Amino acid sequence: MSTPIDPTALFDLDGQVCVVTGASSGLGARFARVLHAAGAKVVVAARRAERLEELVAELGDDRAHAVAVDVTDADGPQALVDGAVERFGQLDLVVNNAGISNVESALTYETEQFRSEIEINLIAPYAIARLAAAQMISQETGGVIVNLGSVLGHGGGGKLKAPGYAASKGGIHNLTRELASEWANKGVRVNAIAPGWFRTEMNDEMFDTDGGMGYITDNTPMRRPGNPDELDGALLFLASAASTYVTGHVLYVDGGWTAI
Ligand SMILES: NC(=O)c1ccc[n+]([C@@H]2O[C@H](COP(=O)([O-])OP(=O)(O)OC[C@H]3O[C@@H](n4cnc5c(N)ncnc54)[C@H](OP(=O)(O)O)[C@@H]3O)[C@@H](O)[C@H]2O)c1
Repeated sequence: MSTPIDPTALFDLDGQVCVVTGASSGLGARFARVLHAAGAKVVVAARRAERLEELVAELGDDRAHAVAVDVTDADGPQALVDGAVERFGQLDLVVNNAGISNVESALTYETEQFRSEIEINLIAPYAIARLAAAQMISQETGGVIVNLGSVLGHGGGGKLKAPGYAASKGGIHNLTRELASEWANKGVRVNAIAPGWFRTEMNDEMFDTDGGMGYITDNTPMRRPGNPDELDGALLFLASAASTYVTGHVLYVDGGWTAI
């Protein structure tokens, strides 16, 4: 007798407790909506509390909870993990999504500015990942961490000068591999999504100029930026039982940017 197969059940996140950082706008808000729609309980985190409360109200049930936090504060990462566990009793998934991007030549981008970008984009995700993994391991259920990388974690920006961003995202890609290799036998999977270009508050100005759009379309084999829903599948795959044997992977969702 063959085993019945329900492929869609693989993506069901019913009962899973997920934290999404940087959920007050852009990709993070979308990720929270997608995880919630897949059945998860979601903890949305960022500094702008009002935006988070609006998102919780929109999600409209007791499976959404806001934690206002600056991920670079000394006690921010712990407050986030504690907030999820206090509200929902466990932690199963973290999407390390909060980030900033500064465009400026390395000749003028001061070392202190570089340091602060690394603090948000690389050090905070590390601090959150290690606390989350400790919680997941202590639950004996394991869990999943999804970091946000970038095509600029794969190579330099060329005409777009973003030294702090490129360095931090390159760091995120290899941190993903390192943490995955350390925690693979403890039931904690660590992967990254590396998007190409998706319009958000982070890159509005770029999308609004011919030069910026030209940079995106000229360097993307599909000749267009991504649509908001085109990261949903990558997130659900990495977050769910669809990827139980996948760890340390950087999944590019980039219209072919890194294929050339
Ligand atoms: N959009 C793209 O094309 C693209 C491409 C590749 C990678 N990414 C990555 O995707 C992630 C999301 O970016 P996005 O495009 O959605 O940009 P966004 O709309 O500007 O969102 C960034 C989020 O990070 C939060 N954040 C920033 N600093 C924070 C801090 N210190 N503490 C807590 N939260 C903080 C912001 O919330 P508050 O201001 O309320 O704190 C906001 O919710 C980033 O890691 C980015 O590098 C984006």
